[in-house]
Amino acid sequence: MKKIALAASAFALIAALLLPVDGAAPAKVTDLLDAKQLATEAKAKAVKLGESMADEDAFKRALEFKTIATDAGVIACLAQALVEHEQGEASGIAAASLRDAALTLSKAKQLDDAKTGLAAVEAALAGKKTGAASDYPWNKLINMHRMMEEMEYREGRLRRTLRRPRTLERDSSHATVLTVLALAMEADTHEVKDEKNLPKWKTWSQDYRSNVAKLGLAMKANKAEEASKYFEASNKVCADCHAQFRD
Ligand code: HEC
Repeated sequence: MKKIALAASAFALIAALLLPVDGAAPAKVTDLLDAKQLATEAKAKAVKLGESMADEDAFKRALEFKTIATDAGVIACLAQALVEHEQGEASGIAAASLRDAALTLSKAKQLDDAKTGLAAVEAALAGKKTGAASDYPWNKLINMHRMMEEMEYREGRLRRTLRRPRTLERDSSHATVLTVLALAMEADTHEVKDEKNLPKWKTWSQDYRSNVAKLGLAMKANKAEEASKYFEASNKVCADCHAQFRD
């Protein structure tokens, strides 16, 4: 009997070690996200970051509006999703290195540091590995306020697309980014001051994620009406959660 109990507990320990409880996203990213879109969006953000470092004036504006922290934080989220995605390797991106480079860049306050940070981001996008660890906590990838601003921006872009739905498939990548951000949102519960409200945070984060994931699928299938339905449902979750935790 003792032997069996020992074997069972050893098995449980091994299982616990194999399952990346802290490091993994709240949902299985392979089932949820399109790896190609993650890669494309990470590259697009790197181009935008380059523009915000074109000269001192551009950089000053970027610091003022905190877009370096936002854009690099979004890359960190996309990168971690690629780390955990079964098709992540195929993107050719050194995803864990990209995440770490983006996190460093997100904190840059001087143009020189930002340029060094962006060079590391670009190297990782081109596949250069730095020995970064795979696991990383999802609640430490992006600042909550920066994430909210990105969500507001992408929801605005989607609203415009859905009003005149001609580029649904192309613009479905906004929904993909929002799905990734929803994972980071679910993991980052620091705004919940009373523990008994944790389930609400989780439920709204998951509702939001499920709506934007379905929105993305409807857009890819060029189903405008269905897409609008999920878009409106996602917007309702913003308001519900704000009423409880922000306002
Ligand atoms: C699970 C809860 C939750 C959901 C869902 C949520 N938010 Fe928020 N949001 C918050 C909290 C909490 C804050 C305050 C914390 C902060 O600003 O850092 C906030 C702040 C913001 C801010 C900051 C500026 C302001 O007006 O205070 C914006 C913009 C924002 N949210 C937009 C959105 C949009 C757009 C959506 C939906 C697409 C959304 N949020 C969904 C919880 C949520």
